[in-house]
Amino acid sequence: MKQPCRVLNAKQTGHEASSLREKLSRLVIGQDEAIEQIVDIYQAHLTGLAAPGRPVGNFLFLGPTGSGKTRTVEALAEALLGNPRAVIKIDCGEFQHSHEIAKLIGSPPGYLGHRETHPLLSQEVLDQHHTETVKLSFVLFDEIEKASDALWNLLLGILDKATLTLGDNRRVDFSRAMIFMTSNVGATEMGALNAPKLGFERHWGTEKHDEQRDRKMSRTGIAAARRKFTPEFMNRIDKIAVFKPLSEADLSRVLDTELAQVQQRILTSSSGKFFALTVSESGKRFLLEQGTDMRYGARHLKRAIERLIVHPLSNLIGTNQVNTGDWIEIDFDRMSNCLLFVARTDGRVPKAVSRTTARQPRISSAAA
Ligand SMILES: Nc1ncnc2c1ncn2[C@@H]1O[C@H](COP(=O)(O)OP(=O)(O)O)[C@@H](O)[C@H]1O
Ligand SMILES: [Mg+2]
Repeated sequence: MKQPCRVLNAKQTGHEASSLREKLSRLVIGQDEAIEQIVDIYQAHLTGLAAPGRPVGNFLFLGPTGSGKTRTVEALAEALLGNPRAVIKIDCGEFQHSHEIAKLIGSPPGYLGHRETHPLLSQEVLDQHHTETVKLSFVLFDEIEKASDALWNLLLGILDKATLTLGDNRRVDFSRAMIFMTSNVGATEMGALNAPKLGFERHWGTEKHDEQRDRKMSRTGIAAARRKFTPEFMNRIDKIAVFKPLSEADLSRVLDTELAQVQQRILTSSSGKFFALTVSESGKRFLLEQGTDMRYGARHLKRAIERLIVHPLSNLIGTNQVNTGDWIEIDFDRMSNCLLFVARTDGRVPKAVSRTTARQPRISSAAA
């Protein structure tokens, strides 16, 4: 007789892990692989099945600049701790010389300046962002290819045993930390695979083509990391995520997210002028054109937003051309090839008009 049995769904995640996935997907565009990896590790942590005596998870993030590696860690802190800045960031480039390691772990007792040094990686620093409900720390080692040998040794200890011994022999426990390491090794080879995408007007590949290219990029990135880093290091990594260069469609979504953040900045600014902001479709297209440079990913787009939206807006605030309750519409003006700022009060009557050119923001106002 057949035993009764139930086929289980081992792919379904619990409520908290699913909620994290949803929040991360809203904050990080086009990097689902990395998000899934984080959710997997978080789920294992929540259910107590993570390997004991190690950090909660060790991640290696590869891929080109401006593809969201750092943003993903900040988004995780935002989603779980309510604060994107609750990330302990170690810029490995700043610790290239072994003597600079003292900044991280403090110097031994008796050394000159021992009392004045506050190690950057103490237990207090690690735990400072814990909340009532979430006792997790997020530690980011940026650009690990620049790390000195001394930093590597320290890192290997953290990744393997979840402990770090400070200069004065105190121990720091990393078993409640997720460790993220970023590197751009392989980014050049990966970029070459993406070469046909260059240029704004191009048609992006079909979905199938993109999938194949993404898989190839992942393989290329991981192979480059294996060539660059020792097996000892690679074996301590739980998850490797290869971040893809953002497509035109991704950048368009990043633009919406960033514009929402500009709106947020206005509503929380110290200027005391709280107004609403909308950008027309043609305005967004212009921003995307100005902000697309595949070498720098979303970084270039962010710079375009600062230059073409944020700085002109600060001029408008500084010259009292906008006031609380206004509604600022930003549109592309074909004639002058620049953005047009229109302030509307009630009844959609334009109150003032300002223009900015692509190269040189210029503000002028005229009653319409
Ligand atoms: N995938 C993405 N989703 C959303 N925003 C992104 C993404 N990639 C980059 N950005 C935006 O660009 C900025 C720079 O990206 P960043 O994460 O620092 O790049 P990386 O660390 O890969 O060089 C971020 O702060 C974010 O505002
Ligand atoms: Mg980064």
